[in-house]
Amino acid sequence: MNPEHVLITGASSGIGLELAKCFAADNSHLVLVARGTEAMEQLAAGLRQKYSIQVFVITADLAKPGSAQRIFDELVRAGVTVDVLVNNAGFGLHGSFAELPLKRQLEIIQVNIAALVELTGLFLPGMIQRQRGGILNVGSVAGFVPGPNMAVYYASKAFVQSFSEAIFEELRGSGVSVTNLCPGPTETNFSNTARSHRVRNHQAAKMSAAAVASQGHRAYRQRRHMPVPGVVNFLISQLPRLLPRAAIRKTVMHYNRLK
Ligand SMILES: NC(=O)c1ccc[n+]([C@@H]2O[C@H](COP(=O)([O-])OP(=O)(O)OC[C@H]3O[C@@H](n4cnc5c(N)ncnc54)[C@H](OP(=O)(O)O)[C@@H]3O)[C@@H](O)[C@H]2O)c1
Repeated sequence: MNPEHVLITGASSGIGLELAKCFAADNSHLVLVARGTEAMEQLAAGLRQKYSIQVFVITADLAKPGSAQRIFDELVRAGVTVDVLVNNAGFGLHGSFAELPLKRQLEIIQVNIAALVELTGLFLPGMIQRQRGGILNVGSVAGFVPGPNMAVYYASKAFVQSFSEAIFEELRGSGVSVTNLCPGPTETNFSNTARSHRVRNHQAAKMSAAAVASQGHRAYRQRRHMPVPGVVNFLISQLPRLLPRAAIRKTVMHYNRLK
């Protein structure tokens, strides 16, 4: 069987960069996608040298509609067949919905939801036809609960969870797997982008990006559906079973309270 090609969005930093290292260690060829070309070129050079794999770098701003189609077309032209799609790129913003710039919040929907759906729609039919491959969506424990003071971000991850669960069921028996990795707080650039310094408990304990990626990668290989790395995060994911909805809203509001 030909070695697989793994496309990873948001591969320039954090969890995506660490996932690239995990898949490279399997000797998979990679397609790295993000805006940060320099960081991706640096990662690519290191991985090519260490594993003798092919690594393509595609610079794309997923907040811009049409980016997913452009990526797909570029890979078709290059004769690259994507076997594994890792939808990892994403960001959030701390603050109340009414106060945050609407344009930026719509970009969250574009990157975290629309680009993820479009890339899946473009690459999945080929995987089904070949009866090979899979999707690894990076969701969040935020997808289990409503998120006051980060409303659009939590809602975007609820979408990722619902969408992943639905296509998981549709693809049963097809040879194509779907995994929705649900990390909790992780040491990455995420909190800088989200302006988390505005939140009182922004120094809460975090897992390393390498640990989250390694658990996500293993779960994908085991075809597990909804892995939640870390015991505390697992407990958060169980809140909807344990507490009434109003209590969950208030707990998350307290957790995300601004200074
Ligand atoms: N860190 C956490 O606490 C945490 C917890 C749960 C879930 N997650 C999820 O984990 C995923 C990865 O985030 P991270 O924590 O690793 O944060 P990160 O270090 O900020 O990485 C985010 C990645 O997404 C890319 N990205 C953001 N906007 C983009 C755009 N418009 N176009 C293309 N790429 C874009 C970034 O690349 P460029 O800036 O180079 O474009 C970067 O590679 C996200 O989906 C996030 O929601 C994170």
